[in-house]
Amino acid sequence: MMELRGALIGCGFFAVNQMHGWRDVNGASIVAICDRDPERLKLVGDQFGVDRRYTDARQMFTNGGFDFVDIATTVNSHRTLVEMAVAHKVPAICQKPFAPTLADAKAMVAACEAAGIPLMIHENFRWQTPIQAVRKALDSGAIGAPFWGRFSFRSGYDVFSGQPYLAEGKRFIIEDLGIHTLDIARYILGDVTSLSARTKRVNPKIRGEDVATILLDHNSGATSIVDVSYATRQSVEPFPETLIELDGTQGSLRLSQGYELQVTNAEGATNTDVAPILLPWASRPWHNIQESVFAIQQHWADCLGRQEETCTSGADNLKTFALVEAAYESAASKATVEIRTLLK
Ligand SMILES: NC(=O)c1ccc[n+]([C@@H]2O[C@H](COP(=O)([O-])OP(=O)(O)OC[C@H]3O[C@@H](n4cnc5c(N)ncnc54)[C@H](O)[C@@H]3O)[C@@H](O)[C@H]2O)c1
Repeated sequence: MMELRGALIGCGFFAVNQMHGWRDVNGASIVAICDRDPERLKLVGDQFGVDRRYTDARQMFTNGGFDFVDIATTVNSHRTLVEMAVAHKVPAICQKPFAPTLADAKAMVAACEAAGIPLMIHENFRWQTPIQAVRKALDSGAIGAPFWGRFSFRSGYDVFSGQPYLAEGKRFIIEDLGIHTLDIARYILGDVTSLSARTKRVNPKIRGEDVATILLDHNSGATSIVDVSYATRQSVEPFPETLIELDGTQGSLRLSQGYELQVTNAEGATNTDVAPILLPWASRPWHNIQESVFAIQQHWADCLGRQEETCTSGADNLKTFALVEAAYESAASKATVEIRTLLK
């Protein structure tokens, strides 16, 4: 199989993980990079030995010579850059959050579909080793049919030092982190029919909400809670672990801090270490996320090579992004929000 040639736009904080990931991916590599900030461009270009460098994405698309684009910029540029990819018929990966609004995200999916180009949202959390282990345990039937779940991310980690823009937005934890937790809830318990949410801002130095509690009704009849916080100090900081509790008709499952998975059913309790691998370029505590960056990018290369749809395609991720919109709507109105009305 021919090696796929990629171009990456946005050489910021998180893109360094994506560049490392691409070096490890089988069947794809990055041949061109772009950042409007010349310093970031030089830093990442030198670190990863990429000679084709652009400060203007339009120029990079005009020059071409790549099979896909990986858009690793922050949210406000996503629609413009995906539309450039559409204009040049270049398959695109776009970082989360998908877009500033659901209307933008829908327009991006429609444009990619009309142009016949694949679009994947870089929604990497479901690719984490512990989350995959939960999915496998559920698929094995070990706890029967799940009827209740909790997906929890509670931390006091200072995310603002690496990503200062997170302190400035009107929206914070649901849009930035809860989006991953909501996607995990969908991945594990299936699509959602309605939700209600409550939010709080505890840290006075930031603009958006840093605590959210969301109650979800799933199509399957299961109920779940997604609770996220960046205002929670604990004796051992769990960042960036998502903890999961599932109760099923035949047993229960607990993914607890320290990457331990316990499955309990009529045969007793089994504990398994489901810790992520520490890749050579990774560092704790980010290694869980870093491994999933590699995994989702390998998935993209495999799917693009075989012309298959990715599991976090634009169309799929609209259903996660709708939950983000619904959570903000519900927190403001205190009403339950029906998801299908948002997806129309
Ligand atoms: N999945 C995860 O675990 C995870 C973690 C952190 C960040 N992210 C996401 O990654 C994205 C990037 O976040 P970050 O923290 O790296 O941001 P950042 O600000 O550090 O980097 C963004 C880079 O994009 C460049 N840029 C912006 N618009 C551009 C344009 N139109 N053309 C060329 N370059 C442009 C900026 O100059 C900057 O260097 C965000 O959407 C964020 O939500 C994901």
